[in-house]
Amino acid sequence: MKTSYPPKNDKRALVTGISGQDGSYLAELLLAKGYEVYGMVRRSSSFNTSRIDHIYQDPHEADVRLRLVYGDQADGSSLDQLVKTIRPDEIYNLGAQSHVRVSFDIPEYTSEVTGLGCLRLLEAIRERELNCRFYQASSSEMYGKCVETPQTERTPFYPRSPYGCAKVYAYWITVNYRESYGLFACNGILFNHESPRRGETFVTRKITRAIAHIVNGLQDKLYLGNLEAKRDWGYAREYVEAMWLMLQQAKPDDYVVATGETHSVREFLEAAFAHAGLDWRKYVEIDPNYYRPTEVDLLVGDASKAKKQLGWEPKTKFNDLVKLMVDADMQMVKDHLAGKGRVAS
Ligand code: NAP
Ligand code: GDD
Repeated sequence: MKTSYPPKNDKRALVTGISGQDGSYLAELLLAKGYEVYGMVRRSSSFNTSRIDHIYQDPHEADVRLRLVYGDQADGSSLDQLVKTIRPDEIYNLGAQSHVRVSFDIPEYTSEVTGLGCLRLLEAIRERELNCRFYQASSSEMYGKCVETPQTERTPFYPRSPYGCAKVYAYWITVNYRESYGLFACNGILFNHESPRRGETFVTRKITRAIAHIVNGLQDKLYLGNLEAKRDWGYAREYVEAMWLMLQQAKPDDYVVATGETHSVREFLEAAFAHAGLDWRKYVEIDPNYYRPTEVDLLVGDASKAKKQLGWEPKTKFNDLVKLMVDADMQMVKDHLAGKGRVAS
């Protein structure tokens, strides 16, 4: 399908993790601003681009704004080649093994991809003497066993998972390259953010997808782990705007991006099932397999710095986020049953 975009702005962006939740929203945002976007995807035995199929362009089109290129966070030579050949103005490093529970099962791989993958990109920028701006997808998971509440840019880190440890490494190596080599490198410390494009094994999406299946008679039970953990949940589409804003400032810096509200998994369950007219207690069972060896009990961020310096503020409230996710999964199942779409697997 032929796509038309606003006038070009002469900027090139490289986005790692473009096939993920955030990558897909960020690509839409950058394309809408006139960027030429290069999205790094990794080789997979099945299609892994469903979140960006709607913006995919035939590379033979006349005015191609989105190009997909192969690479892997674990393969420094591929990252170096991309930096060398594309010479992007901005790099958004979103690629990661991003599942906290899974990071306990594959800790070494998680450290390679989520931690060292960041260093590999920074090294490629330094070695190629590229004058570009760099965004690192840092995480509230770095606060882990929080030493203060709410968490700010000054709160010390206490990670509680191999994923959290890898993100702390990536955070500090980003700061180090900024200070050592003068790179324009920023950390966005993003608290949990969700959407209808959220991976199906993260708790919010697992719940909303299960509700749609239960309502349509496709599933009887939903098995979950710890219901008492509290998270600061925002809407992903809004959070990618903060990423972009960080790279448009006069000076590189690090920012917390959060809503400032916290809710338990149990509250999310209650709100989501209630929106579908169901009592969650009839369907939910606890499976200890979903417990983590060490848990992050409470996250709540203070995004005043992002508000003051970037002019960024969250708009979507918790209850609206829950509703939009339930509604989207309901629609997706309805389309699937009508033969119009597919159920996200
Ligand atoms: P996601 O949906 O899990 O997407 C992760 C992306 O990384 C996918 O495109 C994935 O590709 C890619 N990836 C995984 N392993 C890779 C590898 N070895 N080489 C290259 N690419 C690889 O995550 P997200 O929610 O969009 O999050 C984006 C980033 O923000 C991640 O770094 C995450 O850790 C971080 N973060 C997320 C949140 C949140 O609440 N969502 C909060 C703070 C920070 P495939 O599609 O092929 O798997
Ligand atoms: N995934 C999952 N599955 N989590 C469950 C389940 C379940 O069945 N049952 C309870 N939980 C609890 C987890 O124990 C955790 O306390 C909470 O739900 C949220 O889990 P996830 O949705 O997996 O997200 P996360 O907070 O561990 O990590 C996400 O947010 C981080 C930012 O704080 C990921 O997106 C990370 O990549 C991100 O950095």
